[in-house]
Amino acid sequence: MQAVLRVLAAGRDVAEMGTAYGETAAVVAETARSVVTVERDPERAAIARERLAGFDNVELLEGDVYDELRDRGPFGLVFVDGGLRPVDPARWEAIFALVEPGGILFKDDMTPGRPVEGDEVREFFLRDPRLVATEILVTPEMAAIVAVKLRAG
Ligand SMILES: C[S@@+](CC[C@H](N)C(=O)[O-])C[C@H]1O[C@@H](n2cnc3c(N)ncnc32)[C@H](O)[C@@H]1O
Repeated sequence: MQAVLRVLAAGRDVAEMGTAYGETAAVVAETARSVVTVERDPERAAIARERLAGFDNVELLEGDVYDELRDRGPFGLVFVDGGLRPVDPARWEAIFALVEPGGILFKDDMTPGRPVEGDEVREFFLRDPRLVATEILVTPEMAAIVAVKLRAG
């Protein structure tokens, strides 16, 4: 999953929802132009801050991702991790607004082989006509959704 994100992030401005301990942010920062990552848990944020201290292109924000990223972006890649569920239309629009036209939304931790119907996350990502999206198998046990925001017109 991190290897895929590292590739997708290359040269882009990246936002990560949920830093946790900063493991993925550190990998993505190797190729991204910039990374803004948000964590609401102060203890996790403190550990991540230490891990990410050496990266000039990483900004770690502490708080709720929807508050912290409201006036930021748009980003070329948004890693949709913490704070997604339960998905509702307002949250979905807030996430959608973070991505620039032609930019990418990435969601991991999907159980492979499940139907779209009745799966709140799959329905938002895979049925939104403003996106082109598909699932990829990242490991035998984990799928991810990669979605590109269509350019208007
Ligand atoms: C699966 S972990 C993130 C892992 C990290 N993205 C990585 O790959 O290394 C999810 C994190 O999201 C954080 N989180 C959940 N809801 C959040 C929210 N609304 N705003 C900010 N962080 C949130 C949790 O505290 C948790 O640390």
